[in-house]
Formats: sequence, structure tokens, C-alpha cells
Amino acid sequence: MEKHRSSPAAAPATRSPGRRTYLMCRPAYYAVEYAINPWMDTTAPVDATLACTQWEALADAYTALGHEVVRIEPEPGLPDMVYSANGAFVVDGIAYGASFRYPERRPEADAHEKWYRTSGWKYAEPEFINEGEGDFTYLPGRELILAGWGFRTDARAHAEAADVFGRPVVSLRLVDPRYYHLDTALAPLDDERIAYYPEAFAPGSRLLLERLFPDAVIADAEDAAGFGLNFVSDGRNVVINAEASGFAKKLRDAGYETVPVDLSELKKGGGSVKCCTAELRR
Ligand code: ARG
Repeated sequence: MEKHRSSPAAAPATRSPGRRTYLMCRPAYYAVEYAINPWMDTTAPVDATLACTQWEALADAYTALGHEVVRIEPEPGLPDMVYSANGAFVVDGIAYGASFRYPERRPEADAHEKWYRTSGWKYAEPEFINEGEGDFTYLPGRELILAGWGFRTDARAHAEAADVFGRPVVSLRLVDPRYYHLDTALAPLDDERIAYYPEAFAPGSRLLLERLFPDAVIADAEDAAGFGLNFVSDGRNVVINAEASGFAKKLRDAGYETVPVDLSELKKGGGSVKCCTAELRR
């Protein structure tokens, strides 16, 4: 595994990484058969075998960092099921179930519900449309849930999540169709700190982010377009799409170590590292 170290001059990341558990779904039936985001081009060729190879490298990167990878069985006819982050949002051992915006993906929610229920997680049935960890994330050090709306998740699901978890939810409005899920524009670096791409958010949401996270690492248009924000961090190591090498450098300068993984095939569906990874928080 290639691992890039931060320069010795950079401030060390505050937290040592605990062992994480990640739920992933092998892209065995991956394809771009419909277009529900601007990245998806149904006329462009997609190599499902290469997607599987790249996906295995992502799973291996997590294992090499000492994390646990658990798998949900892919289902034929559900080409987007590889983006397991969308299946639920899990905090404190409770999985708040997904309810997909587009009919093409709706059966994925049932597959995930079944997996969570049979794997010993509490399951909270959603009333409102929400796409799981695609539009929700959690900062344990601030006991704060961050949530996106504007393209997929219904803003009413934010209040629903606040009830399910008994934690405050910060609602953020997404305005750029290329960054249709929160996890394409913002991600936690550790328990308290985030990175984000300001232009993906409405003015009021940007102001809120500036006030809440004055120490955030800020991404530019190129960083975002390379899916640089769609990373997974354990507090020290940031697993990030290889294309976003410029943003990886910014993260190393901010004190993190970066692990680049090439997910070019999965980008054709409009996702990268984070979309392929659901964090299961006990
Ligand atoms: N093709 C999928 C969709 O548009 C990609 C989902 C990406 N997932 C994510 N967590 N951002 O729904």
C-alpha cells in the first residue's frame, strides 16, 4: 500500500486512530444504466471487472490500516449498490434507514434493512426520503450531526434523524448538482475538524460552516472535481481518491497522512472512497 507521510513540520493530527468498522458492497453488478447525477453517462463504457479490482484495493487499504471491513452481498439489478454509504446512517449502534429519492435505487434500502437487522444493529425505519451517510455525517468530539439537503435527502429527514439519535443536526443546503450528496462536498478529518468545498453550499450554509469550523481545510474547484472531499479519515489516515493529489497535499500540510486509492471506474457512477464506505459506529 502506498502511504504518503505528512512533512515533519506539520502539526500532528490530534487523535490516534481507533479501529473503525466499514460496511462495503462489492461492485459485482456495477454499471451505469441510468443517469441520476451529472457524472453518470449511460453511453460511456464501464468496466465492472476493473471496478471490482479498484474496490478490492480500497478494502485492502482499510484492512492494512487496521480497520475492519464487513460486506453486504451485492444484488443483481442494483448497479449502484456499491455505494454502501447510502444504505443507512449509523451512530450509537442505531441504523437510521435510507429511503431513496429515485425508484432505481429504492430496493437497496430493503437489502440494507435486512443486513442491519440480521447483523445485530437497531434499525430505525425512516419516514422521509434520505440517502443515509451520503447526506449525513457525525463529529463525535462535537456530538454534532451534519446533514445535507437540496438534491436527494428531504430536509424533514434532518429533524427525524435528530429524534432518532437525540443529537443536534446542522442542516446544510447543497446548490451544485455535481455535489448532490453532502459526502461529495464535506467530510470529517477527525472527531472535531472537517474539510469542505464552500462553493457547493448555499450562502447561509457557508456562513454556518465558517462559524462552526474556523479550522477547516478548504477545498477548491479542482479538489472537489477530483472527488477529493469524498474521503474516509480515521483521524490520522485519510483514504482519498488518487485523482485528488493536490488536495491530498493540502491534507498532509494540515497534519494528516494520506492513502491514495484509484477509484476511476466508480467515479463514472458519481462516487468515490466515501460513497463506497458506510461507517458503523457502535
Ligand atoms: N450513482 C449513485 C447515485 O447517484 C452514486 C451515489 C454516490 N454515493 C454517495 N454517497 N455520494 O445515487
